[in-house]
Amino acid sequence: MVRTLDSIESIGVVGAGTMGSGIAQVAAQSGYDVVMRDIEEDFVQNGFDSIEDSLDRFVSKDKLSEDEAAQTLDRITGTTELSDLADCDVVVEAAVEDMDIKQDIFADLDEEIPEDVILATNTSTLSITTIASVTDREEQIVGLHFMNPVPVMKGVEVVVGEKTDDEVAEFAHELAEDLGKETWESDDKPGFVTNRILMPWINEGIRAYDEGVATKEDIDKGMKLGTNTPMGPLELADHIGLDICLDASQTLFEELGDRYKPAYLLKRKVDAGDLGKKTGKGFYEY
Ligand code: CAA
Repeated sequence: MVRTLDSIESIGVVGAGTMGSGIAQVAAQSGYDVVMRDIEEDFVQNGFDSIEDSLDRFVSKDKLSEDEAAQTLDRITGTTELSDLADCDVVVEAAVEDMDIKQDIFADLDEEIPEDVILATNTSTLSITTIASVTDREEQIVGLHFMNPVPVMKGVEVVVGEKTDDEVAEFAHELAEDLGKETWESDDKPGFVTNRILMPWINEGIRAYDEGVATKEDIDKGMKLGTNTPMGPLELADHIGLDICLDASQTLFEELGDRYKPAYLLKRKVDAGDLGKKTGKGFYEY
């Protein structure tokens, strides 16, 4: 029996980083009780700090009252124990983009969480089918790919693995809509719809900069004003995180070949620890 949305009261989130804390926040803002788990207390605390910052921004723009912001925070419990998610009605995993780590987490979730609970992954490029293969509930696993910044971005990509049950995919659409998002669906192919198209755009921007086509400011300005996007490729790469862009590009390159090869300068920046906004320096300084 696949769970229906009206039986869902609590959501477990694995990972309290940028994406995990954003997902925990929108779930709590939508009235769900949330358990947010990361491997260290400090990571959990950082997750709460970004949720508070984001809620403060909504309050200062009169999009949320102080009471609503306080109630949202009250609905979120932090933990470092995966077993604390055992009573959640659905779990969304948003840990790092590493297949071995995701498979370890899903194998553990499969043991800790009741067998009728749907497990979603926020992976941005990795195969849902490969992640699901370590569990005994492959039909109950689905991709729920949120966009960064999660509290602001309207879109969520639902990714359907080889074994994902149709009703589970339907549930994923309904859940995302209940969190105030709009959805589209992608087959389980590398990069899905968004990153398959976005990463070559970002890499071409980095190559254009590295090869001296224009200054980084002019590349971003050209793409912003020339194609009406909110951020140019270099600014967007800094926003997403250069390590995330490199991981996503690497997966696309391995699965789909040369046209997805990560730009040389992207690798060099990541090796130097300049990961974008989150480290204070990427293509720009923050
Ligand atoms: N929490 C709450 N509110 C936030 C926020 C946050 N984390 N971040 C921004 N905001 C709000 C601001 O308060 C502001 O609100 P108002 O419109 O009411 O003033 C609004 O969002 C716009 O913010 P700013 O004025 O600070 O800045 P901006 O106009 O440059 O917008 C942006 C910021 C929304 C991030 C915008 O630049 C944008 O849409 N950029 C593109 C982001 C994007 O493409 N994301 C997807 C990346 S791909 C991905 O995530 C998938 C993957 O797997 C890699």
